[in-house]
Amino acid sequence: MNDLQAILESRLQAAVAKAFGSEHADADPAIRPSNNPKFGDYQANLAMALGKKLGRKPRDVADEIVAALDSVGLFSQVEVAGPGFINLTLDAETLNTQASAMSADAHLGVAQADPAQTVVIDYSAPNVAKEMHVGHLRSTVIGDALARTFDAVGQKIIRQNHLGDWGTQFGMLITNLLDQGFDPAAGNSPGELTKVYKDAKLRFDNEPDFVERARQRVVKLQAGDEETLAVWKALVEDSKKYFDTVYQRLGVLIQPEDAKGESFYNDRLPGVIDRLEKEGRLKKSQGADVVYAGDFKDRDGEPLPMIVRKADGGYLYATTDLAAAMHRAHDLKANRIVYVIGSPQKQHVDMFTTMLYEFGWIDRPDSSGGGGVRMDFVGFGSVLGKDKKMFKTRSGETIRLVDLIDEAESRAESAIAEKNPDLPPEERKRVAEAVGVGALKYADLSSDRVKDYVFDWDRMLALDGNTAPYLLYSYARIRSIFRKGEVDFASFAAEAFAVGEPAERALVLQLLQFAGVVENVAETLEPHRLCNYLYELATRYHRFFEQCPVLRAEDEATKSARLALCHLTARALERGLGLLGINVVERM
Ligand code: ARG
Repeated sequence: MNDLQAILESRLQAAVAKAFGSEHADADPAIRPSNNPKFGDYQANLAMALGKKLGRKPRDVADEIVAALDSVGLFSQVEVAGPGFINLTLDAETLNTQASAMSADAHLGVAQADPAQTVVIDYSAPNVAKEMHVGHLRSTVIGDALARTFDAVGQKIIRQNHLGDWGTQFGMLITNLLDQGFDPAAGNSPGELTKVYKDAKLRFDNEPDFVERARQRVVKLQAGDEETLAVWKALVEDSKKYFDTVYQRLGVLIQPEDAKGESFYNDRLPGVIDRLEKEGRLKKSQGADVVYAGDFKDRDGEPLPMIVRKADGGYLYATTDLAAAMHRAHDLKANRIVYVIGSPQKQHVDMFTTMLYEFGWIDRPDSSGGGGVRMDFVGFGSVLGKDKKMFKTRSGETIRLVDLIDEAESRAESAIAEKNPDLPPEERKRVAEAVGVGALKYADLSSDRVKDYVFDWDRMLALDGNTAPYLLYSYARIRSIFRKGEVDFASFAAEAFAVGEPAERALVLQLLQFAGVVENVAETLEPHRLCNYLYELATRYHRFFEQCPVLRAEDEATKSARLALCHLTARALERGLGLLGINVVERM
């Protein structure tokens, strides 16, 4: 919680205690920033609940709270409105001190968790020997933004890239590579990943004899056959290198050492089954070993089993996830595990997390959030084409993530060349990368993640609206003021804030929400809230800039106070975009 919010709450609670007795002092003051200056800067909406408790009319309750409220050094105006809302207008002095405090704080007011909790965040998780596609864009970009946000609120984060690096598909991949004469000892790359996959799949779908050999290869792989493992390793290493180039282009913070693929858990799987067996949880269903927990039902309303071992002895995706969660909770000592995976896997995650809690393998967090391990599923919808169907190439193939990055950058480059032809070519290229990738990420992050969204180049690259280019441009514009005024941005330190004009007030009020929004995103795991915040911030900044001259302010004191506002806005934009994984540029 940011300081201002805390100050407001304690003032209102003190008023409630004074008016109605200390037994009501813990009433939730329900204070929100108001969305219209007509209703003050903040609204307290506690008179309804309190009125009910006291058996009194909310309006009268509100009047009495206001009469008891100490406004000194905080409010310039307090008003009761409607059925009992309390509209609070802050005095200019409060706004100025709060802005100074925010400006002096390296975290821009964001409260730091103490003690820090360990958050394990499972994101990206592409599959070996397959191209990363637009679905992985979502997990990668959302997960990265959330990891950065946890970091910003002072948590300790452990990134885990749960690569799909094990499973029966390796039978066909390895068989085909060996047939083609691939020699793992020669140290060559298995070749272009899509081709490796497609070639094998084609044979798998058409040659019964190949299918049988692929199946035998799986057995060999599981038995640890040397040659088979060597080809597998070559595939994994090559894929990891490839993923890393994509991560670097995307500017996400996930590192090669964060990769802990499914194979990592192989030798823990028998232990999972043993323990289930010992604890009497293992049931048989059509030859397979299954577990029941919670009240998941299948389509016919029958209890839905989770298969943990197939009839042939093979383990499943779910078995691995049980082992992975145990590793995270008990070895990595996570207080919280966050799964950033597409919504179709919600039931899967719900099932194994329910199981782990129900069997007591992982402690449930208590209601205060302390103790136990909190496990959150962070699902997301699909990316759609303009036809509202899954986003695909014209020929119906999945779109490679690298192709999207290429196109984003080249589109951004032509837009920039048109807008600012004087930018030196090298800088233009750098700016285009930031703007292009930024636009791609922002379009993904700014929509409510659980919903599907329509992929639209023109909209994401537009210079106005809730887009990365608009925010980046707003930032660059502030930087240009400093250049024009010959004020060094990096070393600038605000002397004093002095809000007066309505547009200045509106801007400061938005700035003061920064910490609360960041803390809220860490709680709700919804990065689009930060996007909305930044968009509103930039909008208010532009209004301020139109109405309040900065470099040509009427006197030096006003100029310096307005520069302070510009500077703080730029920092909030830079930090906020940074949390979304988007780098600012000084000019564009
Ligand atoms: N590799 C999986 C996929 O592409 C995602 C893995 C997500 N993480 C997990 N712990 N299951 O669908």
